[in-house]
Amino acid sequence: MKIDGKTRVCGLIGNPVEHTLSPVIHNHLAKIENRNLVYVPFLVEGDRVKEAIEGAYALNIYGLNVTVPYKSAVIPHLKEIDKLAGNIGAVNTLVRTENGYKGYNTDMPGLLRAMESENYTIRGESVILLGAGGAARAVAMLCMEQGAKEVFLLNRSMEKAIAVAKEVNGIYKEEKIVPMKLTDYRMLPERRYLAIQATSVGLYPNVEDVVLMEEEFYDKIAAAVDLIYNPYETRFMSMVKAHGGRAMNGLKMLLYQGIIAYELWNDVTVSQETAEKILIKMKEERK
Ligand code: ATR
Repeated sequence: MKIDGKTRVCGLIGNPVEHTLSPVIHNHLAKIENRNLVYVPFLVEGDRVKEAIEGAYALNIYGLNVTVPYKSAVIPHLKEIDKLAGNIGAVNTLVRTENGYKGYNTDMPGLLRAMESENYTIRGESVILLGAGGAARAVAMLCMEQGAKEVFLLNRSMEKAIAVAKEVNGIYKEEKIVPMKLTDYRMLPERRYLAIQATSVGLYPNVEDVVLMEEEFYDKIAAAVDLIYNPYETRFMSMVKAHGGRAMNGLKMLLYQGIIAYELWNDVTVSQETAEKILIKMKEERK
């Protein structure tokens, strides 16, 4: 890679940033496309997110990704925010504009593109959404945007499920999100569901954990997405498959959130062929 006076610098702000796969995505994209761009992780500690953004802008940083714990904290420091990102309340991509950065959320469009690439659809589907944290809340919005038929939001704590359902239904002025307690899954209407696993249960190193152990739950699932990608196949995914359903992990969501950010920064469309090449690199690097 040749760095010269015209090299555009993009990066990631978060804490921690050591284990990120984002440099793999963006630096390989730049290489394949022969674009003079480098992508570097920036560790931002404490409450220095405002300084980080102002400093990045002053240094002419071309675009930024934002990860934990700053996806909401960056919002007050932006010039503008995209509507979906505003609804979700989380920004993972900053695009440089004339007077400051504009914030986007490419996680949800990334999940959608990942699902589409595996021939999954949300439109018209009956969805079981597991979890009521930030990730599940964003997925609930995606389900609304995409016109899911109904969404049963199952969570360990009923209070959180009710709060998320109320908020998302309120934003979209529909009553499609139905909150339920995880253990009440037996009360789900008889259907073959699309299940989206949006809790942290089963994440490395707790690879034996699964949000619901009961075998009969898995008979209801035709297709499933686990947002986790480490391990590559979660226990949740194995149980879905053992009961005849298909399952995908969250690695392609990570890939496509990066690709969509890159497309926003560079005003290009990344081909399917290039996306596949990047995915191979990501699989190599995560070993
Ligand atoms: P994020 O913002 O990344 O989605 P979060 O806000 O910490 O993360 O949410 C984690 C989700 O995982 C929550 O839905 C949580 O359930 P509670 O709301 O009941 O806490 C769920 N979760 C975490 N550990 C769990 C466990 N052992 N069993 C069931 N659900 C669990």
